[in-house]
Amino acid sequence: MANQEFNNLLSNYKIKINELIIRELKNRRPKSLYNPLIYFFNSGGKRLRAILLLLCARSINNDKYSEPINQAIAIELLHNFTLIHDDIMDNSVKRHNKKTLHLKYDISTAILAGDSLLALAYEFLNKGLTQNLEEIFSEFTRALTVVCEGQALDKEYENKKRVSVNDYYEMISKKTGALIKATCRIGALTQTNDKYIIDKLGEFGELIGIAFQIQDDLLDVVGNERLFGKKLGSDLVEGKKTFLLVNALKKARENDLKKLNKLIENKGINPDQIIKYIDIYKKLGIIDFTQKEIQKFHQKILDILNELDKKIFVEELREFLRLIITRKN
Ligand code: IPE
Ligand code: IPE
Ligand code: MG
Ligand code: MG
Ligand code: MG
Repeated sequence: MANQEFNNLLSNYKIKINELIIRELKNRRPKSLYNPLIYFFNSGGKRLRAILLLLCARSINNDKYSEPINQAIAIELLHNFTLIHDDIMDNSVKRHNKKTLHLKYDISTAILAGDSLLALAYEFLNKGLTQNLEEIFSEFTRALTVVCEGQALDKEYENKKRVSVNDYYEMISKKTGALIKATCRIGALTQTNDKYIIDKLGEFGELIGIAFQIQDDLLDVVGNERLFGKKLGSDLVEGKKTFLLVNALKKARENDLKKLNKLIENKGINPDQIIKYIDIYKKLGIIDFTQKEIQKFHQKILDILNELDKKIFVEELREFLRLIITRKN
């Protein structure tokens, strides 16, 4: 499939998903609940999870494929619910280059907006399903539970002095891997009962989620703020146990270690120290090391797609992977 053709497919999906979400929100009352959500969805977002769910479905039934658009929207709403609450939990000021919802409005508005998105997600999940209803609902709910567990670990680690690489992987598999895993499994479940395909696509999704979160940690440090749309260095300020920090702590000696330990002790740094800490990461080779780790996941994901190649049409999934592995936002 030509690159341009794939890009068109994605942008058409994105337009369609956005239209359906905005239309739904505009039809609802009271405005005090739905206007903040319209603000949030109009401000941006890649809609990657919705698109991935559709691509997984297409990869199975290329010829007689029934588009699970409502389930794709359900996943996207669930994801955006987690973002709205995550921004409160992380004291984030900016998303999609706009004020975060709780700053634009207030915390109660953002909490309720998130809650109602979650409810709306279930409304969409239920629409037009013809097969595997029970499995799809339990995948969705299970993912929600696991994301909450991951978010709890993320917060717990802010107060923890020692977080191992394994602890880190447990946290990100839960907070980010679980939802993308469910995205792929649900996409598959709308088309097939073939357990091998459902499981393999789930593995593919989970690894994408893990790579995606490591990239997110990296972009927080070396991204382009305008493209990334979030305030750079926020993870350092909040004392988040990112892939970079956990590995820097393993590598650092003497003065660098002292400074990193100060960050741990104080559970974060002042914004005016961000550059100093990025320099420590650079000096320790953490940026390169992180990029290499992402590449390792890239290879593992490609291996899964090569296995799946015998059973389904993987070309669009390969294109999707290419796209996200080089992402800047
Ligand atoms: C952000 O997800 C949260 C993470 C898991 C890192 P995205 O980067 O996909 O956010 P949107 O959907 O484009 O806003
Ligand atoms: C994202 O983690 C995980 C979830 C939203 C569940 P982050 O806190 O790193 O996401 P961003 O960077 O704020 O988008
Ligand atoms: Mg956050
Ligand atoms: Mg967070
Ligand atoms: Mg982040």
